[in-house]
Amino acid sequence: MLFVWLFVISFVKLSTSQHTLTPRHFVRDGETLLSRDGTFELGFFSPGTSTNRYLGIWYRNVFPKAVVWVANRESPIKNNSGILTINNEGVLVILVILINGTNSSSPVWSSNVPSEAVINPIAQLLETGNLVVKNGVKDSNNNQFLWQSFNYPGDTLTMQGMKLGWNLMTGQEIFLSSWRSKDDPSQGEYSLKIDRMGYPQLFKYKGSEKRFRIGSWNGESFSGYSSHQLKQNIRVEFIMNHKEVYLVFKTVDRSVTWIYTVTSSGHGELSAWTSQSNSRKVISTGEEDECENYALCGVYSVCNMNGNSPTCECLKGFVPKFPEQWNMSYWSNGCVSRTELDCDKNTHGFFKYTNMKVPDTSSSWFSKAMNLDECRKKCLENCSCTAYANLDIRRGGTGCLLWFGALIDTRTFSQWGQDLYIKVPASQLDNGLSKMKKLVEIIVGVILFGFITCVSIMIHRRQGLARIIYRKHYENILRKEDIGLPNFDLSVLAKATDNFSSSNKLGEGGFGPVYKGTLTNGQELAVKMLSERSVQGMEEFRNEILLIAKLQHRNLVKLLGCCIQEEKVMLIYEYMSNKSLDHFIFVARLAYTFQHYWWHSTRTSLSSSRL
Ligand SMILES: *[C@@H]1O[C@H](CO)[C@@H](O)[C@H](O)[C@H]1NC(C)=O
Ligand SMILES: *[C@@H]1O[C@H](CO)[C@@H](O)[C@H](O)[C@H]1NC(C)=O
Ligand SMILES: *[C@@H]1O[C@H](CO)[C@@H](O)[C@H](O)[C@H]1NC(C)=O
Ligand SMILES: *[C@@H]1O[C@H](CO)[C@@H](O)[C@H](O)[C@H]1NC(C)=O
Ligand SMILES: *[C@@H]1O[C@H](CO)[C@@H](O)[C@H](O)[C@H]1NC(C)=O
Repeated sequence: MLFVWLFVISFVKLSTSQHTLTPRHFVRDGETLLSRDGTFELGFFSPGTSTNRYLGIWYRNVFPKAVVWVANRESPIKNNSGILTINNEGVLVILVILINGTNSSSPVWSSNVPSEAVINPIAQLLETGNLVVKNGVKDSNNNQFLWQSFNYPGDTLTMQGMKLGWNLMTGQEIFLSSWRSKDDPSQGEYSLKIDRMGYPQLFKYKGSEKRFRIGSWNGESFSGYSSHQLKQNIRVEFIMNHKEVYLVFKTVDRSVTWIYTVTSSGHGELSAWTSQSNSRKVISTGEEDECENYALCGVYSVCNMNGNSPTCECLKGFVPKFPEQWNMSYWSNGCVSRTELDCDKNTHGFFKYTNMKVPDTSSSWFSKAMNLDECRKKCLENCSCTAYANLDIRRGGTGCLLWFGALIDTRTFSQWGQDLYIKVPASQLDNGLSKMKKLVEIIVGVILFGFITCVSIMIHRRQGLARIIYRKHYENILRKEDIGLPNFDLSVLAKATDNFSSSNKLGEGGFGPVYKGTLTNGQELAVKMLSERSVQGMEEFRNEILLIAKLQHRNLVKLLGCCIQEEKVMLIYEYMSNKSLDHFIFVARLAYTFQHYWWHSTRTSLSSSRL
């Protein structure tokens, strides 16, 4: 009874200054400090099944009790003798009452010593859940905090102006870190941090290892991670200037309490609480699919969730580094360029991907001022640029983000992703650019076809020309040799051979068909028509003419004349019945050979008897 009585008295005592802590006041274990409207409460508590005491801040109205901040994470108090106070230097300290009744001289935990001048410091728990230390002098700039718990978050984002990021002036990093377990708020394995390499992005680490890249803020979401529900309820701002780089989270509708926690198992759990539901409802357990494993697919590839299993595919223009080992066990080997990327900007284009989680931006360059077109040009100009995208996807897209070197940790979503343009050799493209190319090819094809047609017509004409030249040549031969052969008219020969009818055809000779003809005066002829093929054999024709013309022998078939007309060349012989012309020609040749032989023999004094 006495204990309860003392407790009530102490509570009443505190309630007079329950919103503010001064160097004269203490928060003993069992006492609490409230925010102005009582949303948040500060005091000592034991997490889970633990009996250890910790100083923490929790939502007073959200059940089960949602602890959002813990002071002495690493130094639990084993008994109920912890006390919180603020010293005159503006430092919050947790002391323990020793067995002999005195307060411990060294604190269990203390906040940092403020760098600014401290006058009558006070500590307050704000309605946002922020425990702040500030100067208590009236009319001073009372809103500047000497210290604030928001700069030292635990595992929870309260979405009421909490930040994650960097203070570039002090070098201080603000990040979330998981509890070791539900019973132990000391720093666990997992943390959520902003990596400032390249264009800043949010990572989830396990120890110092990057496990999951949430990515850069694109104005609307972390490339791919956003739902309408979130968009409507939580406003995220990305602030980047010479002093700070941070993301700030705010709730749009204050009637719903949003809590984001990095659980001890590494999941980013998002829960909501409304007074109607009167219970904390887990909106998202933050259980990631396999594509979320950082760099699962290696470089230059994209992860795609097909149902429950991930699939890695090389980006356009890339092929697996080890094609025979392109499966689940070897995906991390990634892909390589199908062709050597050279630096000639004319040989490259871009392949557009939609609904993408953009690649790791740690090796990137950005500009808020550039538009997408300028961005593309900039990427084409730099040999090592491999991709580009808009920096901010709101209002149709603004700004420019360029990637250099290997593209890693890219995935596709069915929705909410953003457009990404991958640099690809023009030969690998089948988009707009190559459509242009195809058009050019068609035009070139048409021109080429026209050219070939013209050339072939010309060649045809020239062949005709060639024939004329040949004919002239024949005429020349005949004239030059001055054989004195009469020239028959084609019409006369046509009439004589009944228009070269097949019934008048005697046979086919070495040079072409031979026709029997009868002139109007009754003289019979053999007309040897030189076939087209043999027109080419000018030498042979010449030889034949010369041979036969010279052999005007009585036993030989007599060459009566020739006809060179309308590209036709004919020889007209005396008709010898019962024997084919070839026979006679053969005999003629034989005779000539003998004659020739004989003539030479006599010259070389061979006796005629011997012949
Ligand atoms: C409480 O525990 C601390 C160690 O955590 C010890 O130093 C202190 O003496 C204890 N106080 C009481 C009253 O038992
Ligand atoms: C109480 O005990 C602490 C060490 O445990 C000692 O330093 C301190 O002087 C003691 N105070 C009194 C009043 O005995
Ligand atoms: C020790 O803490 C108690 C509150 O539990 C306080 O009343 C007392 O003044 C403190 N003593 C000193 C020396 O700070
Ligand atoms: C992956 O490919 C390697 C090499 O071809 C093969 O030995 C291995 O069994 C494959 N693993 C799976 C899961 O298909
Ligand atoms: C291309 O970009 C990289 C990274 O920003 C830079 O180091 C390099 O000088 C640039 N090269 C050219 C030719 O602009």
